[in-house]
Amino acid sequence: MEKLNIGIILGSTRQGRLSPQVGKWINEIGQQHEDANFEMIDIADYNLPFLGTGTGKEQGIIAWQQKISNMDGFVFIVQEYNHSITGALKNALDSAYEEWNDKAAGIVSYGSTGGARAAEHLRGILGELSVASVRAHPTLSIFTDFTNSKVFQPADIHVDYVTTMLDQIISWSKALKTVR
Ligand SMILES: Cc1cc2nc3c(=O)[nH]c(=O)nc-3n(C[C@H](O)[C@H](O)[C@H](O)COP(=O)(O)O)c2cc1C
Repeated sequence: MEKLNIGIILGSTRQGRLSPQVGKWINEIGQQHEDANFEMIDIADYNLPFLGTGTGKEQGIIAWQQKISNMDGFVFIVQEYNHSITGALKNALDSAYEEWNDKAAGIVSYGSTGGARAAEHLRGILGELSVASVRAHPTLSIFTDFTNSKVFQPADIHVDYVTTMLDQIISWSKALKTVR
């Protein structure tokens, strides 16, 4: 079977964001899985217009939909903004539809309560997009997994759970490939 393609989607786009550090860590752990290719997908690279403000045919939207279409599964790097996901991530989710359908995803979140509230909002949205979200959900504390809320230094305890999550994503991504 061909290797699966798993996209690690950075949910935040602000200047000074922490998400690239978390995405890089997941990517490094992902590289140890032989049956999947992992790659970082940065929403900021696509200059997505706010949904409905343009023609819908902008180059960034076409490239975004193509990238999502090429993936078999996803890891969402989710940060909590006002108890939910970022506006940028919601807009990116809304900017594709069929490209998401019948795929699997896992969520790695962070915030003062591990980003749990944002992650649960995302699960509901993913359900509507026919993306199956796996059970394992590593939650990172902005207080203890980041030094001065800036430099990512994850506790060792998280690594095994990330591996469990990636195993679940790979298993469901393989299964859902047969549905598409
Ligand atoms: C607009 C905004 C709202 C936030 N709201 C919350 C919140 O409701 N709960 C929380 O735990 N952290 C909250 N935070 C703190 C973020 O989780 C923290 O700044 C995190 O680093 C943001 O992710 P990023 O660095 O990738 O942008 C908020 C941050 C911003 C910028």
